[in-house]
Amino acid sequence: METSEMETTSSSSSNSKEDIKEELKKKTTQTKKKEALGWMEWLRGWFYVVYEMLFQRITASHLHNPMPLPPVNDLTIIVTGSTSGIGREIARQLAEAGAHVVMAVRNTKAAQELIQKWQTEWSGLGLPLNIEVMELDLLSLDSVVRFAEAWNSRSGPLHVLINNAGIFSIGEPQKFSKDGYEEHMQVNHLGPALLSILLLPSLVRGSPSRIVNVNSVMHYVGFVDTEDMNVVSGKRKFSSLLGYTSSKLAQVMFSSVLFRRLPAEAGVSVLCVSPGIVHTNVARDLPKIVQAAYHLIPYFIFSPQEGSRSTLFAATDPQVPEYCELLKSDDWPVCAFISHDCRPTNPSEEAHSIETSHKVWEKTLELIGLPPDAVERLIEGEDVECKYGANH
Ligand SMILES: NC(=O)c1ccc[n+]([C@@H]2O[C@H](COP(=O)([O-])OP(=O)(O)OC[C@H]3O[C@@H](n4cnc5c(N)ncnc54)[C@H](OP(=O)(O)O)[C@@H]3O)[C@@H](O)[C@H]2O)c1
Repeated sequence: METSEMETTSSSSSNSKEDIKEELKKKTTQTKKKEALGWMEWLRGWFYVVYEMLFQRITASHLHNPMPLPPVNDLTIIVTGSTSGIGREIARQLAEAGAHVVMAVRNTKAAQELIQKWQTEWSGLGLPLNIEVMELDLLSLDSVVRFAEAWNSRSGPLHVLINNAGIFSIGEPQKFSKDGYEEHMQVNHLGPALLSILLLPSLVRGSPSRIVNVNSVMHYVGFVDTEDMNVVSGKRKFSSLLGYTSSKLAQVMFSSVLFRRLPAEAGVSVLCVSPGIVHTNVARDLPKIVQAAYHLIPYFIFSPQEGSRSTLFAATDPQVPEYCELLKSDDWPVCAFISHDCRPTNPSEEAHSIETSHKVWEKTLELIGLPPDAVERLIEGEDVECKYGANH
């Protein structure tokens, strides 16, 4: 070893690079691949989940409800999944505060009906709400590309993208999208990842701008196996809990790498938030008895309005971009994560793994059909080919 090191020093710099690469390769193959969370990590993860559930009302008691918002009149904000639950509250409150809101939804009729209702309730209180609907079905990557193309063709700025839509199909069998991906992974991570990257040109035009991902405290018990994103290898038994938690962790890891790859000049912040444990349609697939219990514990569970506060904070607070930049300059491996009480918090230990985060990044780009340098090229104003979309 010592001899080879000495030899390397005396040989050309390209040789020494080769040796270092070899050494790293050996080390990587020698390290046993992590197959799951360690039991301490797993226990700590569940502790965070239970703690948030039991004490969220106390830890967030300093927050007003509804939360007062800073001026948002000049902002254009896309909110995915805004026909129900947290997203619906986010869209309504931002529109009432004066923002131009785009509801990116799969059920456009339901969204139009909501807009009519909100306009009626709002009439006489101020200018009509500036809110519109565009179709987006995250279970179809073609639909994501169509949405991004339609949006980018307007050539206007985008100030905030809120990736809120999500599923947690409790108790249901494993399902796959028509693109061939496990549905939790596609709706909660792959679809939003593709949308975020394809909307970068508009976000750069709107900078300082933000990508806010509505994540979950459940990512603390998640584990991503990049060689088995669809959970089909048989190494792990699929459950909706596994599908949900791994998709949420994948989103944190992907967001961390995306944020680091964006040059400061682009002016785009990327962050994840936990809304808390919130009473929404997310529980629609729970067994009836569990749903009944869910209704019986309103003291612990947030209303959708309470659950919208951390996302609204992440989307509008003026100090957020500065905080994000600070994390970048500190060489911190994870993106900003805002807790249900609007305080910055630390994502899970697993989310800090730089090696896995990069693997998640590479695998995600491969699955969503984008080249490895998509972000850099889009920031430079170049066109990027995607495997999905009407042209393919
Ligand atoms: N509720 C909680 O306790 C909790 C806790 C932590 C994190 N979260 C996260 O908060 C976010 C919002 O969830 P929620 O609790 O408000 O649940 P929700 O009431 O079920 O709302 C989910 C939204 O996502 C939309 N959506 C689902 N599949 C979609 C698809 N394929 N394409 C486009 N939109 C789709 C739904 O549209 P449809 O109306 O058409 O179904 C709905 O508008 C999710 O990311 C969830 O993981 C929730």
